[in-house]
Amino acid sequence: MTQQIKVGLIYGSARQGRFCDTVARWTEKELGRSGDFTVEVIDPAAHARARRNEMTKSESGGHRTLRAQLAEADAFVVVTPEYNHGYPAALKELIDSAGEEWHAKPVAFVSYGGVSGGLRAVEQLRQVFAELHVVSIRDSVSFQNAWQLFDSTGSPADPDRCTAQMSKMLAKLHWWATALRTAREAAPYSTAA
Ligand SMILES: Cc1cc2nc3c(=O)[nH]c(=O)nc-3n(C[C@H](O)[C@H](O)[C@H](O)COP(=O)(O)O)c2cc1C
Repeated sequence: MTQQIKVGLIYGSARQGRFCDTVARWTEKELGRSGDFTVEVIDPAAHARARRNEMTKSESGGHRTLRAQLAEADAFVVVTPEYNHGYPAALKELIDSAGEEWHAKPVAFVSYGGVSGGLRAVEQLRQVFAELHVVSIRDSVSFQNAWQLFDSTGSPADPDRCTAQMSKMLAKLHWWATALRTAREAAPYSTAA
C-alpha cells in the first residue's frame, strides 16, 4: 500500500495578478488526482499579509505559522516563475525564513515563464536547497510562454504532455519522501560532520 505524503505546495510569486495561481491550482489538482498526497498551500503573499498585520518584528504569528507548515510537510513542490533569469525575491525570503524545517526532505519543481519556461530559476533553486539539506528531484514540469498553454478555465491546452511529466515527477517525489520520512523516523537527521 502506498503511504500518504504531506506536500507543502509553495507559490513562487507574490505578485498581485500573478499567473502563479493558474499553474499552482493545476498542480494542486494533479497532486490530488494521484491520491498519494495531501496538500497544504504555502503562499508568500499570504505570509507577507500576515506579517504586515502583526506589529512585532521577528517571530510574528505569520512567521511561526510558515515554519509550522514547513515542519509538518514531508515533501515540497515549488511552483516558480522566472524573472530576469532568476526566481522571485518573495520565494527567497520564504526559503530563508526557516532552517531545519527543510532538512532531509525532497523538493520538486513546476516552473513557467517566457522562452526558458523558468528552467534557469529552477537550476538556481537547486543550489539554494542543497544548502538546506533538501534533495531536489531531477524531473520537473515546465511551461514555456506559459500564458499560451492554459485555457480560460485554467486547464493546460496539451494535458497529455504535462500530465505525463507531472506523473513522472510525482512518482519520484513520492519515493524520496517515503524513503526520507522512514529515515528521519529511524534516526534524527544531523547536520554535524
Ligand atoms: C521584469 C520581467 C522579467 C522577466 N524575465 C523573464 C526571464 O528571464 N525568463 C522568462 O522565461 N520569463 C521572464 N519573464 C516572464 C515571467 O516569467 C512571466 O511574466 C510570469 O507570468 C511571471 O509570473 P507571475 O505572473 O506568477 O508573477 C519576465 C517578466 C517580467 C515582467
